[in-house]
Amino acid sequence: MTASGIILAAGRGERFGGPKVLAELGGVPVLLHSVRAFLSSQVVQELIVVAQPTMEPQVVALLEALDFPVRVIPGGKRRRDSALAGVEEAKSEYVLIHDAARPLVPPELIRRVLRAAEEHGAAVPVIPVVDTLRYVENGFLSGKSVSRAGLFAMQTPQAFRRDLLLSALREADEELPDDAEALLRRGIPVAAVPGDPKNLKITYPEDLLLLARLL
Ligand code: CTP
Ligand code: MG
Repeated sequence: MTASGIILAAGRGERFGGPKVLAELGGVPVLLHSVRAFLSSQVVQELIVVAQPTMEPQVVALLEALDFPVRVIPGGKRRRDSALAGVEEAKSEYVLIHDAARPLVPPELIRRVLRAAEEHGAAVPVIPVVDTLRYVENGFLSGKSVSRAGLFAMQTPQAFRRDLLLSALREADEELPDDAEALLRRGIPVAAVPGDPKNLKITYPEDLLLLARLL
């Protein structure tokens, strides 16, 4: 069995206010933490970073010093386009697709997700939703209530047999919330494995402060 790590770093970081994957966390850029986690997991034979074309030279320079060759390729407008570019570039039997913006992913989580994908074809890390969920309409709570029972939040890396994800992503030509969505639309089962509460995604500037304290 072979596996490729695909790290998505081609977003615009609009809610963060700039390229968050190059923001500094504990002395090094966010992206480097994600790359190092994959190298520590020791389960990938190749690593691909998908970056914005304008950021490519900076990203290449950042990864040059590593003693593992990391390929940098251009991403697309939508997250789905960046993911598809990565999967097309990958050569392994399995792919692990990770948000660069989740720099504290534990290497053990990467191994756990890949093991589950080997068994089931597709697997994603999830964590139980703890907050009470309600709909808000025009500034007021709506009468509709949402039961938390059985609801989980999705994390990355998400792992798949490469051929399954490739055809599913090609068919789903629109923005997708995550990669599992492409398989679910075709009725392909996706296994859920325990995620990690520290595997947070940087979305807003405050998230970076929180992660720095966790580090
Ligand atoms: N991503 C990507 N290509 C895109 C969009 C997103 O590679 N066209 C990556 C981001 O770089 C990030 C991950 O997917 O690591 C998760 O996306 P998100 O948190 O939404 O990041 P951004 O799209 O950059 O942020 P925003 O939505 O606020 O612009
Ligand atoms: Mg986005």
